[in-house]
Amino acid sequence: NNNTTDYALKFTQYSNQNKKCLQNVVKCCLQILLFQFPLKECVVIENWVRPLLSKLGNKGGVIHIRCNQVVEMLEGGFIAPYNFKREARSCLFALNYVNADDCVSQMSQLRRAATLPAAEQASMIAAIVLSRQSRVSFDTSWLEDLYEKIVMETTGNKITPLVVNPGRILLTCSRLYFQPYNNAEPWPVLKIKLSSITRVVKRRFLLRHVGLELYCPDEYSLKHLFLTFKNKEDRDTLYTEILKQSALSLEDTGQENMTLLWQNGVISNYDYLLYLNSLADRSFNDLTQYPVFPWVIADYTSTQLDLTNPSVYRDLSKSVGALNEERLQKLKQRYDEMSEPKFLYGSHYSTPGFVLYYLVRKMPQYMLCLQNGRFDNPDRMFNSISDTWRNITTNSSDFKELVPQFYDTETKGDFLCNIQHLDFGVRQDGTKVGDVELPPWAEDHCGFVQTLREALESDFVSQHIHEWIDLVFGYKQQGEEAIKANNVFYYLTYEGSVDLDSIKDLNEKYCLEVQIMEFGQIPKQIFVQPHPSRHSLSVSMPLIEKSCWNTNKAASGELSSDKRDSAGEDSHRKLRTQTIGQQWSRSMSSLELIAEHKLHKDAVTAVCISKDSKSVFSVSLDSLLKMYSLEEKRQLRSINISHMALSSCYLMEDGKTIVVGSWDNYVYKYNIEYGKVLENTMAHDDAVTDICWNNDVLVTASSDSSAKVWHYGPHQSLRMHSTADLLAELDHEAGVSCVTLDSSNTLLVSGTTDGHINIWNLSSFSLIDNFPIHTALVTDVAFSPDSSTVASCSTDQTLKVLDIKTGTQLFSKDAGEELRCLCWDGSTVFTGGERGNIMVWDLTKAQLLNTISGHIGPVICIDVSEDGSLVVTGGEDKKISVWKTS
Ligand SMILES: *[C@@H]1O[C@H](CO)[C@@H](O)[C@H](O)[C@H]1NC(C)=O
Ligand SMILES: *[C@@H]1O[C@H](CO)[C@@H](O)[C@H](O)[C@H]1NC(C)=O
Ligand SMILES: *[C@@H]1O[C@H](CO)[C@@H](O)[C@H](O)[C@H]1NC(C)=O
Ligand SMILES: *[C@@H]1O[C@H](CO)[C@@H](O)[C@H](O)[C@H]1NC(C)=O
Ligand SMILES: *[C@@H]1O[C@H](CO)[C@@H](O)[C@H](O)[C@H]1NC(C)=O
Repeated sequence: NNNTTDYALKFTQYSNQNKKCLQNVVKCCLQILLFQFPLKECVVIENWVRPLLSKLGNKGGVIHIRCNQVVEMLEGGFIAPYNFKREARSCLFALNYVNADDCVSQMSQLRRAATLPAAEQASMIAAIVLSRQSRVSFDTSWLEDLYEKIVMETTGNKITPLVVNPGRILLTCSRLYFQPYNNAEPWPVLKIKLSSITRVVKRRFLLRHVGLELYCPDEYSLKHLFLTFKNKEDRDTLYTEILKQSALSLEDTGQENMTLLWQNGVISNYDYLLYLNSLADRSFNDLTQYPVFPWVIADYTSTQLDLTNPSVYRDLSKSVGALNEERLQKLKQRYDEMSEPKFLYGSHYSTPGFVLYYLVRKMPQYMLCLQNGRFDNPDRMFNSISDTWRNITTNSSDFKELVPQFYDTETKGDFLCNIQHLDFGVRQDGTKVGDVELPPWAEDHCGFVQTLREALESDFVSQHIHEWIDLVFGYKQQGEEAIKANNVFYYLTYEGSVDLDSIKDLNEKYCLEVQIMEFGQIPKQIFVQPHPSRHSLSVSMPLIEKSCWNTNKAASGELSSDKRDSAGEDSHRKLRTQTIGQQWSRSMSSLELIAEHKLHKDAVTAVCISKDSKSVFSVSLDSLLKMYSLEEKRQLRSINISHMALSSCYLMEDGKTIVVGSWDNYVYKYNIEYGKVLENTMAHDDAVTDICWNNDVLVTASSDSSAKVWHYGPHQSLRMHSTADLLAELDHEAGVSCVTLDSSNTLLVSGTTDGHINIWNLSSFSLIDNFPIHTALVTDVAFSPDSSTVASCSTDQTLKVLDIKTGTQLFSKDAGEELRCLCWDGSTVFTGGERGNIMVWDLTKAQLLNTISGHIGPVICIDVSEDGSLVVTGGEDKKISVWKTS
């Protein structure tokens, strides 16, 4: 046809030079113009009968297509709006590798489907696809190794932005294979070595729990695979089977400790938000659930921006739609008049359309694909930051948040520039759409992103970002709290609003899926309680590498990035000591055994070191209290306290009086000076399991399901029936296994045999909160010095850190053995375990620093001297070990 002549003309000059060259040029020229023939518009699809003298002829035969419309795209290899040509065209396709008859029959089937009404069309296509796919089985000749054991085979889709490609999935003992039904992928079959998979994450896709994401950063062919399945069961089966394979070695993702790391300033707000997005199933590979980031700056018109001024920031406690009070009132009025299901905001903060609105300069091909070959109207494109900000704060149907690229200093704001010089059209005022117009305070694109990132990491945002997390990922995301917080979106954007699996009508299902895709999706809810705030950082940390300035100013004697990093590390350290207060010492990770004594005849249940670090007291199941001199390295006292086992002991401030709890329900007071038990009091109706004393307040815990608070000093005696002494009895649902007071005697924490942690108010003696965070007996609890968090350990093998205001688990780690005791200063924690190990953890960085083999059998009790230089442990092996820290 005409075009062919054009090409022929264009290339005559080449052909004159070299015949062979012509062939090559023609070939590549045809490759860079792509034709699309809408099936609906095709009038003829047939097997072409070759005229006798035709030179055309290939092994597979020739197909003839006649179509009333042709869409041309990618002409000359350039990304541009598609060219829709309404003209009848005939084309011949000579096939090399497939049989024309097969193709024609399939194409004709699909063409028939294309002429049907939408509903029937969807079901006919589904039937065609199903029958075709059921005829294909996994081609085992693709197996890499003849002896690979096949574990299971299933079907699923490979998801990339805007493309859902179905295929067969085969799991063997060493690899995962994906064989697409078509050959639209660069590889006929994808092979991923199980050993190269670092993470396997279940994902939500179109509001259903059918997705699975695999990360394999070291694979050659792809770093990452996102699969979806017919239903949740199929997904879960494959997930379970993959995890069972011994070839798999997943990395520790630190999922359990990110909140703690973020709170302590070890990871940035940016990284934490990326992490939360990922937890909430938002992925860079899924435009329908793309990661969402907040607007943090509210000023896009000033020439200067002062990041220390709180008024330049957006109010992070409000969703975008609630930022403008006037607009909000109008929307609420409409809301009140609306019938169910009501919504405040008719559009979402993140949809594929909005993501591409921001990223069209970087991902133009996606925009064309999504919008049927067209770019947006030039005036409605993302042309100016301040216009977009004005629109989202004033327009009654625009509530967009941002995408991570706005804060990504590594890509330096390249999405704001029309780097590829694409033709996006001309605006009404005659200007061509080019780069995005920046606010006056930004010097260039890189600087703009840099400033936004600094704002994101600023003190202001650090102190308020948890409010935004509550709105998007947390408890204000849905339900009653969402209504209160003016945060209600269209019902289809919520998970569980429709049960897609129960919808049998394919067309209805398809329409709903399209709507969900277009309207956006509320992220998976990851917190049901208020999110904790970040610790206030009195020293600001230069966490962000100044990427733009490095290149420009490196020559003019600026700090190199290395130097800046180490400076950051220093201020980081200062900050930690400032905020956390009393600490043992920095970098304690190893223990050196300096003494070991078998003082008792049975398991040692409690130890304490005297304030001057000169002596150690211990009690045991053998019912003896022992005093041991660390200086003289010998036992000084052995006191027969009771006829039953002793569970706990506590040395009072005077250094002379020691309180001991026993299984005989009594509490004993022993005075070292007089060398005798001064008094004994029946404190409980069952065994006393733990005691704690601080500044004239004694707390006793018991298997009788209560903890008692007493007014009790070294010179007072304990009178059971005097209300002056017994201040309160705190009732629990189960036996109380451990208690600890905070440093100011305002809070008490207790742990129970059924795994609950209780926080009590010591002025009103009321229960503040109850957190069932362990699945078994809580063996020990401790407050951080600022009383904001509690560390606990349990026979369920976990060590946890709980934010007591919000109940968020900041840290949770399975130690691999039952944990029996702990001791911490808010940063370093020592734990003792069932298998005799003493573990040292740095909880500011959430790292296990060291595991020391301490006792034969369980380490039951542990104490650390006030300066952190000594650690004493007691074990079931009847031994007491004294360790020097370094
Ligand atoms: C905490 O997370 C970090 C980073 O992911 C990881 O390296 C570390 O091992 C984790 N710590 C614990 C105790 O799991
Ligand atoms: C919102 O934006 C649309 C499209 O640009 C415009 O037609 C409409 O007038 C705007 N509404 C307001 C209140 O600015
Ligand atoms: C303003 O918002 C409306 C509604 O979403 C949208 O149609 C319009 O394109 C937006 N205008 C700009 C400049 O972003
Ligand atoms: C401790 O004393 C009690 C009686 O007061 C006695 O029955 C018990 O045997 C003694 N235990 C030891 C270890 O001396
Ligand atoms: C403890 O109770 C007192 C008295 O009811 C109250 O004033 C105080 O705020 C409470 N403290 C906490 C942390 O709940």
